[in-house]
Amino acid sequence: MEERKQGEVIQEGSDSSEEEKQEIVPLKDDPVELQKLSQQSWDKFYKHNQDKFFKNRNYLSFAFEVIDQRVAEAISQDQKVSLWEVGSGTGNTVIPLHEKYKAQMSFFACDFSPNAIKLLNDLAICERAFVKDMVFCESDIAEIPSSHIDFTSMIFFLSAVHPDEQVQVMKKIALKMKAGGHILFRDYAAYDLAMMRFINKNKGILELDKMVFKRGDQTLACFFEIEKLEAIMTMAGFECIKSEYCTVQSKNIKRDLVMRRVFLNAIFRKKSD
Ligand SMILES: C[S@@+](CC[C@H](N)C(=O)[O-])C[C@H]1O[C@@H](n2cnc3c(N)ncnc32)[C@H](O)[C@@H]1O
Repeated sequence: MEERKQGEVIQEGSDSSEEEKQEIVPLKDDPVELQKLSQQSWDKFYKHNQDKFFKNRNYLSFAFEVIDQRVAEAISQDQKVSLWEVGSGTGNTVIPLHEKYKAQMSFFACDFSPNAIKLLNDLAICERAFVKDMVFCESDIAEIPSSHIDFTSMIFFLSAVHPDEQVQVMKKIALKMKAGGHILFRDYAAYDLAMMRFINKNKGILELDKMVFKRGDQTLACFFEIEKLEAIMTMAGFECIKSEYCTVQSKNIKRDLVMRRVFLNAIFRKKSD
């Protein structure tokens, strides 16, 4: 899906939303167990779907202005800009960014699915693409030098991490970013259709007050409110530059179904130490 204006109706031939990929089954809610199951499930998902499930995502258009500004500065100083996609999957966000910025940008990517990272590495577009579980890994990630990254993109990644772990994950990311570097965020927002389905079916609800749910394939789905996301980012050392809900109505013509989606687009800046 591409960036769209508030409330715009889109005609789509198929519904490829990932929350529908498997049917919902009963819960096991030990957090460590959940995280392990989630890793296995995502890895199986990429083994089965390869790079065919998600389309390339052009969601970062809301951040092009801030990227372009930094790129122009870097060109004038004869430098390159670095971007790290966390939870990259097979590269559906990195690929279009690489097409647009390859002359001025170097790319890092990580994901906890070895199958996804193998497919991304086959494209040879990243300076480094590596397997990393952002929850269980060391706090100082060895594959990226400290204070190196200008932009970290997180596209439907943080929603896969349990809310209790999100601040720690953001702190690990902060360590690798330059002061003044930007987080580019897009993810599920509160009251999105997928969240209302969990509630209406009364299935997969882990902690309703934290808006955390579990899909039938054992992966987590969290939904964000602007205030809560800003609180997480503030605790990890970032300040908010921009955050907005983005509503999208898409129509599945085959199933005669209107889907009302709510996403959150946001940009945060790393404060000086
Ligand atoms: C919805 S996909 C998004 C992929 C990619 N960002 C994109 O734009 O297509 C979420 C990704 O987060 C990864 N992921 C979930 N939890 C993770 C964790 N703890 N550490 C690293 N990657 C994780 C999954 O393997 C999956 O590839």
